[in-house]
Amino acid sequence: MHVLAPAKINLHLRVGPRRDDGFHPLISWMCTVGLFDSLRFERSKEGRAAPRDFALACDQADLPCGADNLVCKAAAAIGQAIPEPLGVDAFLNKSIPSGAGLGGGSADAARTLVALNRLHGTGLPFPALTALAARIGSDVPFFLYEPSAICRGRGEVVQKIAAPLPKWALLILPAIHCPTPRIYQRFDEMNLGTVLDDAEVPWENWARMEARPLLTHLVNDLEQPAFSLFSELAALRQRTEQVLDRPVRMSGSGSSLFTLFDSELECRDTLASLPGKVEAKILAVPLCPKLHDDLAS
Ligand code: C5P
Repeated sequence: MHVLAPAKINLHLRVGPRRDDGFHPLISWMCTVGLFDSLRFERSKEGRAAPRDFALACDQADLPCGADNLVCKAAAAIGQAIPEPLGVDAFLNKSIPSGAGLGGGSADAARTLVALNRLHGTGLPFPALTALAARIGSDVPFFLYEPSAICRGRGEVVQKIAAPLPKWALLILPAIHCPTPRIYQRFDEMNLGTVLDDAEVPWENWARMEARPLLTHLVNDLEQPAFSLFSELAALRQRTEQVLDRPVRMSGSGSSLFTLFDSELECRDTLASLPGKVEAKILAVPLCPKLHDDLAS
C-alpha cells in the first residue's frame, strides 16, 4: 500500500499563555501543501505464525526509526486495538524537512493510522482514530481532517473549513532547525500570549480573500520567539519580504517561511525571478493538493 503524507502550513497561528499541563492554547488555520513524504506498507514476509510486529525503515540515515518515531507510535496505537500482531513492514521516504514547522512527522503518523486501520480491516471509527491521533501529537489530528481546518485546544480540536482562495505558495526552507519545545519555552520566557478569543475572526470571509489582502490578516505568534532565538531567520524574513514585495509569514514554530499567490503562473514566475537573491531552498507548491495514493477513495 502506497500512501502520501502532505506537509502543512499554519496560515494563521495565535498562541495563548501556557496552560497548567505545559501546553499552550492555540487557534490556528492550517492547510496542506504539495510537499510529500511517501510511505509504503507491506505485510511482513516472516511467515504467518510469528510475523514481526512492525518494522520501519527510512531513506534518511539520521532519522531514528525506533519506537519514538511517530510512525511507530501510530503503528503501536493501532496494534493495541487488534488482538493479533500487526506483521507490517513500513518504508518511509522523507521529503518534508524536520524542525521546519511543516508537520512532517505528524502527517506521517496520521496517514499511518489510516493506512493500518484500512490494511488490517481494524475498522476503528473516525472518532477513535482522532483520539489516538491526539495522543501521538498536537498536530496529528489535523491530518485526519485535511486539507483545511481551524485547530484549537492544544491543536487537537479540529474543525474543517473551506480551502483558502489562493491556490499556490512559495515555501522558503532555510537550513535552520527550530525545535518546537524550545520555541514555546522562549515564548514563555518573553512573557508572550494573551487570552485567545476567535469569535471576531470571520474565517469563511478570510477563505474567500485573494492572496494579498489575506496575507495582511495572517499572524504567527511564534515568530517573535523564533526570531529572537534565530536572528538569521528574522533577517531572512525581512529580506524575502523586500525581494518579493509581499508579506511573508513563518509556519508553525519555524523555520519555514511562506507567502501566497492566487495563481500557479504568478507563483512560478516569482520563483523564476529569485535565483541568487535569497539564501534558502525555495519551492512553488499548490495549497490543499489532492492525495493521489492508495488511500484515495
Ligand atoms: O504535541 P507535540 O508533541 O507535538 O508537542 C511538542 C511540544 O511542543 C510540547 O511538548 C510542548 O513543549 C510544545 N507545545 C505547546 N503547546 C502546544 C503544542 C505543543 O507548548 N499547543
